[in-house]
Amino acid sequence: MYHGHPDNLLPFKGRRIAVGVCAGIASYKVCSVVSTLAQAGAEVTVSMTADAQRFVTPLVFQSLSGRPVLTSPWESSEPKDPQHIRAASGLDVALIAPCTMNMLAKLAQGSADCMVSLLAASIDRAKTPLVLAPSMNEVMWRQPATTRNVATLKADGFHVIDPASGWQACRAVGPGRLPEPDALIDLLAAVLRDRPVTG
Ligand SMILES: Cc1cc2nc3c(=O)[nH]c(=O)nc-3n(C[C@H](O)[C@H](O)[C@H](O)COP(=O)(O)O)c2cc1C
Repeated sequence: MYHGHPDNLLPFKGRRIAVGVCAGIASYKVCSVVSTLAQAGAEVTVSMTADAQRFVTPLVFQSLSGRPVLTSPWESSEPKDPQHIRAASGLDVALIAPCTMNMLAKLAQGSADCMVSLLAASIDRAKTPLVLAPSMNEVMWRQPATTRNVATLKADGFHVIDPASGWQACRAVGPGRLPEPDALIDLLAAVLRDRPVTG
């Protein structure tokens, strides 16, 4: 349930939003984000990595979004219309949350070997903002490789949200927490506010 001002949800009405979920412990927070977006009138399509499905089942996201969840590039491909190309077109905004250390590395390299990275690779970022919400243990967040990958991704035009700091599920305290669902909703609303609805 969203606790901010109801007007903050207005930018989502009639929008097409892709949410990619990776195998981070914070994937439970993204359930709430997807529910809020759907209740605000957005058409939300969730995609998941294989490992993400160890944390939350596709059924949860299917129920919350009211739409099929994309779990494999090899499902539902039509001869002239592969699923990932169809799913990547006409989007108003895309969010990958939680974005794992692994996914940051893959996107920085241009890898497209799973449903989430393939969908990200198929999104034209000149038209559709692609927002990454990294979330990981504070040591993983401070790794030089992660710092390098985040810098590369920003230079490549991805929007990278700074993780929050505080208690982590691994019993550490530090930077790397996924921001709370309301904060993610507010950030997405800010990205969409001045953008015309994509047809
Ligand atoms: C219990 C558990 C929690 C994890 N939490 C995170 C996390 O919060 N962030 C992260 O980057 N990796 C985390 N990992 C490691 C990723 O799940 C692992 O690198 C995985 O292969 C990433 O898959 P994906 O990027 O394809 O979703 C966790 C692993 C386990 C076993």
